[in-house]
Order: sequence, then C-alpha cells, then structure tokens
Amino acid sequence: MADVAFDHVTKRFRSVVALNDFTLRIPDKEFLVLVGPSGSGKSTALRLLAGLDEITEGTISIGGRVVNDIAPRDRDIAMVFQTYALYPHMSIRDNIGFGLKLRKMNKGEIDSRVKEAARILGISELLGRKPGQLSGGQRQRVALARAIVREPRVFLLDEPLSNLDAKLRVNTRAEISKLHQRLGTTFVYVTHDQVEAMTMATRIAVMNFGVIQQVGTPQHLYDHPANVFVAGFIGSPSMNFFDVKVVGGDHDLRLEGESFTLPVPKSKAAGLRSFRGREIVLGIRPENIHDRDFVPPQTNAAPVAAKVEVTELMGNEVFLHLLAGEQSFLARVDPRTGARPDRPLQVVFDLEKMHAFDPESERNLTDGDQATSADPASAAETRAFDQATFSRGRPGRPGAE
Ligand SMILES: Nc1ncnc2c1ncn2[C@@H]1O[C@H](COP(=O)(O)OP(=O)(O)OP(=O)(O)O)[C@@H](O)[C@H]1O
Ligand SMILES: [Mg+2]
Repeated sequence: MADVAFDHVTKRFRSVVALNDFTLRIPDKEFLVLVGPSGSGKSTALRLLAGLDEITEGTISIGGRVVNDIAPRDRDIAMVFQTYALYPHMSIRDNIGFGLKLRKMNKGEIDSRVKEAARILGISELLGRKPGQLSGGQRQRVALARAIVREPRVFLLDEPLSNLDAKLRVNTRAEISKLHQRLGTTFVYVTHDQVEAMTMATRIAVMNFGVIQQVGTPQHLYDHPANVFVAGFIGSPSMNFFDVKVVGGDHDLRLEGESFTLPVPKSKAAGLRSFRGREIVLGIRPENIHDRDFVPPQTNAAPVAAKVEVTELMGNEVFLHLLAGEQSFLARVDPRTGARPDRPLQVVFDLEKMHAFDPESERNLTDGDQATSADPASAAETRAFDQATFSRGRPGRPGAE
C-alpha cells in the first residue's frame, strides 16, 4: 500500500504560513494533482512529504505509517523537480543508475533496472550519450528514468514540464500519464497550470494561500466549483462574473444586472430565495454564452444585449470579447457568428449552467459542494482508505462503524 495522508499539517517559515491545516488523503495508485497560483504552498506540501523540510504541526503518513521522523531516503519516494540537474560528465546510463550505486546495489541489478527504465521511456538508444548531447525533452525523460529505477512507492513531481516548449509539454504530459498507468504507483504532481491538472489528474486539489480550496475529480471541480476562486481558476478561458441583485417573488426569481434581467431557472432557485433583495455574484462560463442565431438545442436561453469589442477566430470557434453596459465578458461561440467589432450582438446565457456565489463568503450558492467538498465517489474512497489505514479492527465495509 502506498497511500498518502496529510493530517492537519501546518508549515510555518517564521511568520509565513506556507501550509495551513492541510488535510488530504491520497489513495494508492491515484494521480493527485496539486494546483494553485505561485506561492500557494504546492512545493511546500511536496517537500514535507519528501522529508526535505520539517513539519511544524500535524502528521504525514505513507502506507499507513507516520513518516514525520523518517529520513527522506527511507520514505520510499522519488522526486522529479522542475530543474533536473544531470551530471554533465557522466553518461546517461550512469546518470540514471547513480542513485542506486550510492545505495551500493550490485552492478547487474543496476544495469537491468536502468535498461528497463530506458525502455519504458523510449531512451534506450541514448544511454551512451552525455547530457549535453540531448534535447530538453530527452533530458526530462532521463530525469523521469532516474526516478523510476528507484522503484518508489510514491512519485513526487514538482512542475516537471515547465522548462519544455509548448509542443513538447503536451507530448510529455501524455508520456507521464502513460507512465502512471503502466507503473500503477501513486503520483503526486504539482503544477500551476490548470490544463495540466485537468488532463492528467485522477483528482485535483486546488490550493490558495496554503489552504485547500476544494478536492475532486477534474469534471467535478469544473461542474461544481465550491467557491469563486475555484470557479475562476479551473477552466480556460475563465468563468465570467457579474454583480447582480436577486429580485422577484418565490416563483419568478430574477437576477438584475446593470444592463439585463435574467430569470432564475427552477433548478437554481432554492439556494437563492434567501438572497432576495441582496447582491450576489453570477458566474457563467464562456462556452455557456451563445450567439442568439446559433443556439445549441436544449439551451435554457436568456437573452442579453451586448456590444462586440474584439473577435478572435480559433477555427472551430470564435472568442468574443463583449460588453454589457460597462461590464466586459467573454463568449465562445459558433464560428458562423456574424459578430463584428463595434457592432451590437444579441447573445443568450444558458442559465441551466449558471453558478451563483455569496459575495461575502464567496461560496457557491447553487451547485457547489456542501462541506469540505469531496465528490461522492472520492468521499467513498476516502472512507475506505481511512478504514484501511487508521482503524485498528478488521477492514470493513466503507462507511460501516
Ligand atoms: N524556505 C523558505 N523560507 C521562507 N519562506 C518560504 C520558504 N519556502 C517557501 N516559503 C514561502 O511559503 C509560501 C509557499 O511557497 P511554495 O514554494 O510552497 O509555493 P508554490 O505554490 O510552490 O509556488 P510556485 O508556483 O511559485 O512554485 C510562499 O509564500 C513562500 O514565499
Ligand atoms: Mg513551487
């Protein structure tokens, strides 16, 4: 078992709280992505797990064993960093095997592990070269191979793709996903790039200011963001936000914006009734705003009069930078749109896909998660995991007392 558990972990550097009461269970074989802006505590979480920094409060367990006082080399983990320094005078073969040599493993075993790792990563023909004779992408694979030969129970990767150009990043992203499937090992992967998080993760933990904002599958976070931060961070281009007032009676709630009034659909009304007469934040993703002449079937279409500022042709779609009153927002519309800069355009908001947030707490009022935000599937997983790792009795049914 190589599940990982952070239990109320706090890390302070003097007055800086880098990680604040961080609790996260990562089941065996999961690809968990920690994502968040710069300074949000992602690397700190990884370094504590690796044992490179000391925990201020709380515990970290690997495979059910608390590792707070266990040296990094005895934690059975391997880490790949953003900057992967290879030894320039050593061959690729020796670079990959170096850690094993330090551990005094016998030559035959080292050789077979190096060969196997090189085969998995498709770099067998490079083993005789020096690092200076490799491309950036090839060097990154060598760094991964160096981690693989250790046969760790947990892989830690901290922004491993950020030194690669855009195309190579996409390729290597897929390589790492394949590697995860092949090895069946737990991966903890840090990135500030939400696209990497969405495409690679089994589950994502979104962080801000050292605090977990929400944990869930990529689709769950996309559909049910717990708060304004997650809503704005997950999805590209980002969700649009409007300040609106909730008005109307119990059966005809409406949202009054600066230049539009929208009917609240039945499915969203429950969370909004108590906000009547007050302001809320309306959130709607660019893909849920359509040109009125090209509305997909089954759209709950509420019209909004806009003015076109800029059009950006993407081929399969058009990004429209629009204005409604003073408020600018973005729509991704059908490429057949007749939208032209400086002209008015009727668009529609698909309100079945709208989100509403409390302007003070910033929490999702209509369809976010209730408490700490694990989706049902992962909550069950977490329960099963707790049972297996923390309870003393026989492992039982998940959720059974
Ligand atoms: N050794 C240190 N001494 C003092 N403060 C630190 C140290 N390491 C990190 N911090 C602070 O802790 C906070 C979290 O840093 P961390 O490196 O974990 O962020 P991050 O999410 O990895 O950011 P980035 O995306 O920029 O790598 C930051 O405010 C940072 O300045
Ligand atoms: Mg970092």
